Amino acid sequence: MTPEPARPLVLVGVGGGIAPLLTILRTWAGAGFPRPVWFVQGATNGRDHPFGDDIRALAARHADLHLDISYGRARTTDVLGRDYQRNGRVTLATLKRLPPGPDADFALCGPPGTVDDLRAGLAAWGVPAARVRCLGGTPASPPADRAAASAITVRFAASGISAAWREDHRDLLTLAEAEGLTPRFSCRTGICQACLCPLLSGDVAYDREPMLTPASGQVLICCCRPVGNVVLDL
Ligand code: FES
Repeated sequence: MTPEPARPLVLVGVGGGIAPLLTILRTWAGAGFPRPVWFVQGATNGRDHPFGDDIRALAARHADLHLDISYGRARTTDVLGRDYQRNGRVTLATLKRLPPGPDADFALCGPPGTVDDLRAGLAAWGVPAARVRCLGGTPASPPADRAAASAITVRFAASGISAAWREDHRDLLTLAEAEGLTPRFSCRTGICQACLCPLLSGDVAYDREPMLTPASGQVLICCCRPVGNVVLDL
């Protein structure tokens, strides 16, 4: 039987604060793009195009990375089809024109108003909320049915810190930060692997499965919680 093709990932970045998307692209490039990626970006023009050169260089090396760049105020020296693909802003209509259609995972990064509009538009288009991740916003609250307190202990072995887990910490990264640690992270949504951390003992559960499976013995602390006592090499 022919395996089903991997569902595409559509990354959408608007404005200047899109560094987490570049981290994702680099990680996925290192993994050989296990799923096709559409990178949709809204910028002003060729002079004000955050990470434009880096992103084009990655796309030139990886056939499974597709670019769809919109310029709001293209200069006469910007060449349509070479430097950018569309005039105007990134809107839901932009996403609807892409080959993956609604059967993709989406990650949105940009000003809150733009992200909110796109998220509402994707919902109206029929994309399930579980397939839309928003980067850089306020993390979602934990499910209301979780008890606020637990008897679980998390030990950060390299730092010599032990802490009691509470469900309102949401994830192990949030707990580490609450304890004064400064682990690496970028997307906080389980896509970029910047927060990868060795799990020395115990087990964790993910609220949403990471888009790239972590290597054995490693966990993505931005999106998992402990199931019983755990020890992290952090
Ligand atoms: S910060 Fe990106 S996967 Fe955790």
